[in-house]
Amino acid sequence: MNTTPSHPTFGILGARPRFNTLLVGDTTYLPAPERYESIFRDIFARQYYTNQGPLTSQLEQRLSVLHGMRHVVCVTNATIGLIMAAEAMELRDQVVVPALASTSVLQSLAWAGLEPIFCNIDSSTHQMNIGHVTDILNQNRGAISGILAVNQWGSICDAPALRSLASRFGIHLYFDSVHAFANVVNGASIGSLGDVEVFSLHSSQIMGGAEGGFLCTNDDALAARLRNIRSSYGAGTFTAVAKTSNGRMSEAQAALGLLHLDDFPQLQSRNLALLQRYESGLEKVSGLRLLKPSDTCNSNYAYVVCQVDESVFGMSRDRLIAVLKAENINARHHPCLEASLAYIAPEEDQLQHSVDVIRNYFQLPLGVDVSVHDVDQVCAVLAEARTYATMLKKIEV
Ligand SMILES: Cc1ncc(COP(=O)(O)O)c(C=O)c1O
Repeated sequence: MNTTPSHPTFGILGARPRFNTLLVGDTTYLPAPERYESIFRDIFARQYYTNQGPLTSQLEQRLSVLHGMRHVVCVTNATIGLIMAAEAMELRDQVVVPALASTSVLQSLAWAGLEPIFCNIDSSTHQMNIGHVTDILNQNRGAISGILAVNQWGSICDAPALRSLASRFGIHLYFDSVHAFANVVNGASIGSLGDVEVFSLHSSQIMGGAEGGFLCTNDDALAARLRNIRSSYGAGTFTAVAKTSNGRMSEAQAALGLLHLDDFPQLQSRNLALLQRYESGLEKVSGLRLLKPSDTCNSNYAYVVCQVDESVFGMSRDRLIAVLKAENINARHHPCLEASLAYIAPEEDQLQHSVDVIRNYFQLPLGVDVSVHDVDQVCAVLAEARTYATMLKKIEV
C-alpha cells in the first residue's frame, strides 16, 4: 500500500518538525571570551567600575564619531534614556506617539507624567503617518508639547516632515531609534533627526552591551541637562535640574558595548545577506509581504518583518505562527513592542486600520544562529503553508 502523503508533512499535523531544535533567531551575539577577559582584566586593574569611567567615555566618543554627533550620553538602558529626554526637554501634557509603540515608549511617558496621543502608522512601512500627525496637531493646538517618533524595524520615519511640523507648532521632536542603530539617512548617519534620539544596547539589539543605551544630541544645553539628570553625581558642565535619576552606565556595560561596536559591520552584512535570501525566497508567496527598509536609509538589517494578508494567504497570522512553531521556527510578534494596543479603545475608528496592520505582522528568525540554508527551509515551509492553507487552517490547535 502506498503511504506517501499527498501533501508535504507538517509538524502541526503531528509530523517531525523540519528543525530538530528551535531556530531562535534572536540569539544574543557574544564576542569571543578571550576578548571579554582582556577588557575586564583592565577594569579590575583600574578598580573603577562606574561614574563615567574611561570605557564609558571611550564608548561615548566612538559613538559620537560614528553618528557624527556633538554629544552622546551613555545610560543604563533606553527606557531611562526616554524618561530623561522627556524631563530634559521639560515636556508637559500630551505627546504624539505612533499606534505601534513599545512598553518602554509608553512607560517613559507615564513616568514623565505625559499622556500619549496615538497617530496611525502606514501599512507599507509601519512608520508614523504624517497626514494623521498633522491632523492631530491641528486639532490639539496647545495641549501637545512633543512628538516621540519611533524609527521602526531598522528603517526610519519621514523625519524632515516631522521636523517641519515640530517647528511649525513650536513643539519638541525626539526619537526612539532603538531599531535604527547606525542607519544612514540620505548619506548622513542617524542621531540628529530630532532634538534628541535614544538608542538601546539591550542584548536583543544588533548593537548590544548586555544592557545599556545612549542618547544623541547636537544641542549643548540639552546635553548638559541630560548629563545632570542622568545621575546626582553629574558629569560635565553643571546645570541645575529639577529631577535626577540613576541612569549611569557601568564600565562592564561599556566594555561589552565597545566589543560589539568592533563587530557590528560583520553582523550587519551577515543580516543583509540573510534578508536578501528571504526576499528572493518569499517573492512568489502571495499574501505575504516582506517589509523592506526604506530607500533613504542604509539599514542595520536587524529585522525580517512580514505582513500577512489573510484573504490572499488563506490563513491568519496567528495560525501561520502556529504552523511555523510546530516546525521549530521561532516566528513571533512581540506584545511589548505593540503595548499601545492595550491603550487604543475599540471605538477609536481612526486607529482601527493601524490596529489591523499590527495584528497581521510577524517577525522571522535572523541573526547569528541562522544560516542561509535555514532561511531556505523557512521560506519552503511558508510557501507550502500558503499552498495548503485551506487544509491547515482547519486543524485544531
Ligand atoms: C522599540 C524599543 N524601544 C525601547 C526599548 C527599550 O530598550 P531598553 O530595554 O534598553 O530599555 C526597546 C527594547 O527592546 C525597543 O524595542
